[in-house]
Amino acid sequence: MTGNITFTMIKPSTVKAGYTGNIIAKIEEGGYIIKALRKVYISKEQAGRFYEMHIGKPFYEDLTTFMSSGPIIVAILEKGNAVESFRKFIGATDPAKAEEGTIRKVYGISLSENAIHGSDSDESACRESGFFFSDLERF
Ligand code: CMP
Repeated sequence: MTGNITFTMIKPSTVKAGYTGNIIAKIEEGGYIIKALRKVYISKEQAGRFYEMHIGKPFYEDLTTFMSSGPIIVAILEKGNAVESFRKFIGATDPAKAEEGTIRKVYGISLSENAIHGSDSDESACRESGFFFSDLERF
């Protein structure tokens, strides 16, 4: 599955604002196949483990508080070259620097409330998918 799979999360403020359907539609229009999808709440402790590579960074505390502030949508997506293409598709981490028409440009509010997450490597895609979905081989 490596190479064709990425993991995404629609973040709490975006779910709360009612953009879940629009964003899922856009993802499918972009040619991504939804292999798995759930709406979940994560605790601050779970958010801390998910983002453990950012421990010690100045934004870690706010990021984990934010990600546990309401329900999120988590999903595994399939497409050729999924990780790289999806990161381009959603736009730069900072919505202010994202290309016109990308999900982060359209729905992002700030660097922390940037609408959506996309895995940064095949290894991350595998780890992050496994964080929310078991029996990965079935996807
Ligand atoms: P995401 O793709 O979910 O991965 C880590 C998140 O940390 C990132 O999106 C941003 O929402 C958030 N973040 C907040 N501040 C920063 C920063 N200065 N640099 C990178 N990421 C940041």
